[in-house]
Amino acid sequence: MIEKLADFIEEVKNFKAETAAKAEELRLKFLAKKGILNEIFAEFKNVPPEQKKDFGQKINTLKQLVEQKIQEAKERSEEDSSKPADLDTSLPGPNIALGSHHPITMVKNEIIEIFGRLGFTVAEGQEIEDDYHNFTALNFPPEHPARDMQDTFFIETDPDILLRTHTSGGQVRVMEKQQPPIRVLVPGRVFRNEAVSARSHCIFHQVEGLYIDKNVSFADLKQTLMYFAKEFYGEKTEIRLRPSYFPFTEPSAEMDVSCSICGGKGCAICKGTGWLEILGCGMVHPNVLRNCGIDPEVYSGFAFGMGIERTAMLRYGVTDIRMFFENDMKFLSRFKH
Ligand code: DAH
Repeated sequence: MIEKLADFIEEVKNFKAETAAKAEELRLKFLAKKGILNEIFAEFKNVPPEQKKDFGQKINTLKQLVEQKIQEAKERSEEDSSKPADLDTSLPGPNIALGSHHPITMVKNEIIEIFGRLGFTVAEGQEIEDDYHNFTALNFPPEHPARDMQDTFFIETDPDILLRTHTSGGQVRVMEKQQPPIRVLVPGRVFRNEAVSARSHCIFHQVEGLYIDKNVSFADLKQTLMYFAKEFYGEKTEIRLRPSYFPFTEPSAEMDVSCSICGGKGCAICKGTGWLEILGCGMVHPNVLRNCGIDPEVYSGFAFGMGIERTAMLRYGVTDIRMFFENDMKFLSRFKH
């Protein structure tokens, strides 16, 4: 019997419980009610006394071995399910594809950063506006032909509600809530009922600027915009202001910068003129200040508004505005740093 026990010990030592099924086989063979261990225990009483100690130790060894094998198989199967057998943990991990800012966001952030150095903070307007904030408060009287300057999307069920055609309504909302001094930017999306082409889109982005305080003059406007142009387009950039018309500013102007592509010599981008038109601006009309509860006898100020797409197209040499809205990965990944 002792020899038989030694054989079993040898057998279990050599047993490879690679799978859970094999381990179960081992358990049934040795540990089940009618298994070998119980059989051997039953033999115990027949063992001669002088062999009992040795026999007892061998039974224990056999039992422990079987249990150990089963435990090992169990641990291995747990590990197997959590990692593939051929996993090499010393290899570097897979590259995680990082996203990047959209070019419109990059240009917007840069504009905000430059004006931020002059003390401008950022306010949010709203994309769904009412007629009052988009037009009336900005000195567009009802039926005024200037309303046709911007083709508007109206909400069908309520002609008083529209998608804002410019961020200038954001000026009104700021002035309604805050007395001067005011230095604020309102960036955001605007909507116009226009045919989509390489040069214009029905959705685009603008940044509105507003500065109201005592004794703000046209010279302050010019200086502020010159600072921006040089910071954004480069130290050598020159600006020029051309008289223009907007109902909410008086006087009004459009600002050109010397073409950053050809340095002012004339090229295809500036159509040979050496100048690029980048924004509209002017001194805030007294009617607008009054509409917003600010006394035009005490305060004055300037405002400006620029299109972000146009600015981004010039900066990155993008020739089709539609690219900004198509989410083409090939296009967007060009702007990764
Ligand atoms: N809102 C004008 C537009 O969308 C741009 C603009 C012009 C904004 C002059 C201004 C301004 O604040 O003073 O065309």
